[in-house]
Amino acid sequence: MSPDPSVSGGTSAGAMTADDIRRAYLDFFVARGHHVIPWAPLVPRDDPTTLFNGSGMQQLVPNLLGEPHPDGTRLTDSQPCLRAQDIDEVGDNRHTTFFEMLGNWSLGDYFKSEQIPWFWEFLTDVVGLDPARIYVSCYSGNPEFGIPKDTESADIWTGLFDAAGLDAERVDLGTAARGAELGTGGARIAFYGAKNWWCRMGSAEAMPVGEPGGPDTEVFYLYPEVAHDPAYGAHCHHNCDCGRFIELGNSVFTEFRRVAGPDGEPAGFAPLPRRNVDYGGGLERIAAAALDTPDVFEVSLLRPVVAKLEELSGSAYSTGETHALRVIADHLRGATFLAVEGVRPSNKEQGYVMRRLVRRAIRYAYELGLTDAFLEELVPVVADVYHDSYPVVAARRDDAIAALVKEERSFRRTLTRGIGVLHTLAQRGGTLTGHELFTLHDTYGFPVELSLEEAGRHDVTVAPGWRGEFDADMAEQRARSRAAAAKK
Ligand code: ALA
Repeated sequence: MSPDPSVSGGTSAGAMTADDIRRAYLDFFVARGHHVIPWAPLVPRDDPTTLFNGSGMQQLVPNLLGEPHPDGTRLTDSQPCLRAQDIDEVGDNRHTTFFEMLGNWSLGDYFKSEQIPWFWEFLTDVVGLDPARIYVSCYSGNPEFGIPKDTESADIWTGLFDAAGLDAERVDLGTAARGAELGTGGARIAFYGAKNWWCRMGSAEAMPVGEPGGPDTEVFYLYPEVAHDPAYGAHCHHNCDCGRFIELGNSVFTEFRRVAGPDGEPAGFAPLPRRNVDYGGGLERIAAAALDTPDVFEVSLLRPVVAKLEELSGSAYSTGETHALRVIADHLRGATFLAVEGVRPSNKEQGYVMRRLVRRAIRYAYELGLTDAFLEELVPVVADVYHDSYPVVAARRDDAIAALVKEERSFRRTLTRGIGVLHTLAQRGGTLTGHELFTLHDTYGFPVELSLEEAGRHDVTVAPGWRGEFDADMAEQRARSRAAAAKK
C-alpha cells in the first residue's frame, strides 16, 4: 500500500492542500473583481522567442503594454510553467522544472496599496501562514535610469507588520553579495537593486526596446530550523540561496518600458501609459509553507508521485534516495504535461527537452534499481493528481501515457548497452571524445547532457574540444538524412 499523502507531508494537521490553495486563491481574487482567464499552453503559440511558458504574464505582454484585454482590467489564473534552464538544480527541496504560478493582474487598475495588503491577507488569513515568518524585499532604485527607491511599497509593508505587532526594520543591501557580507540584523524589509527588478530577460540592462518591466516586491517565508549554510556566504539574508528563506511570490509593478537612445539601441526607460500589477506566486511553495515544510515534494501534487516511486523501487524518500526520487518525480510531471499538450520526444526544441526529461528520469530510476519499465504505472499517478483541476489532463491521459511509454521503450532498448559503453570507458580511465558523445547520442539515445553527467559521475574526463567534433558529426548526419530524404 502506498503511504497516505495526507499524513506524510509536514506537521500541520488540517493544512490546505495545493488544490485547496489554488481554488481559494482564484476565489479570493474573483471576490475582488477579477476575471479568471484560461491558462496559456506550456508551449507558447506565436512566440518563437521562448520554448516554454515560464511565467503567468507571458500571454499578457501586449496588455501590459497597453492593449485592452477582452476580460477587463482585473485578471487571475493559475499558470503551469516550465523552466528547462533549471533542470540541473532539481534535486533539492525547492527547485522543479515544472510548477504552477498563481497570478493576478491589474491592467492599469489597482496598484500597490491594494495588491500588497491583498497578498498579505491571502497568505496570513486564507492560507494561515505565520505572519512572524514573513519577510519582504523592495527595490532600492536605479539612479542611472532615474528610477526611484520603492519606499511606497516598504511603507505599505510597514503598516501591515505594525498592525500584526511585528517589528518592521529596514535594511539597505543593494546586492545579494552585500547581503551575504552584512546580513540583515533581523530586519524584515530588505532593499535590493537588480534582484528586485523584474522583466522577462532577468535584468534591466538585457531588456530590448519596447519590453515592459518594473520594480517588484518579493515575499519570503523563513524556516528558522534550517541553519544557514556558510557555502552561500558569511550571513544569511532574504535572497540567500541556502534554503532558510524561501521566496513564495512577487508583485511586479510593471510601469516602465525600455526605450531606444539616439542610435536606436536600448537606452533608458519611459513610463508605460498605465501602471500595472503582475503578481506571480509559486503554488507548490505556498502549499509547502502551509504544511510547514520547506520541501515542495511533500505537497499534495508531488507526494503521491514520490510515494508511488518508493513503492515501485523499494527506496525510501526520507532515508537517502531523496535526490533521485525528486528528480524522477519532477521530470515525469513536466514530461506528462508536455505530452498532454501534444509535444512528442524528438531531437529538437520542446521535443528535445521532453526527451531529456524522460530519459534523465529513467536513468535516475535505473540507479534506484528500477531497471524495468515503470512509466505505465507511474504516469497515471501524475495524471490523477491533476484530474479534477486540469480537465485536459483527464481527457488526454491515455495519449500522454502512451507517448511516454513509447519513449521509455525506445530508450530502454539501448540504455543498458549505453551505460555499459560508458562504464567500460570509465574503467579504462578514458577520455570521452566528441565522436564518442555523438555515438552515445545517435546509437544509444543518450542526450549529450546525460552523457556528460554520466561521465562526471564516473570520473571520466571529457576531451576539451568535444563540442566541435560533436557538432560536426551532427551536421554530417543531418546532411546524410537530407540526402536520403531527397532520394525518396
Ligand atoms: N512575472 C512575475 C514572475 O514571473 C510575477 O515572477
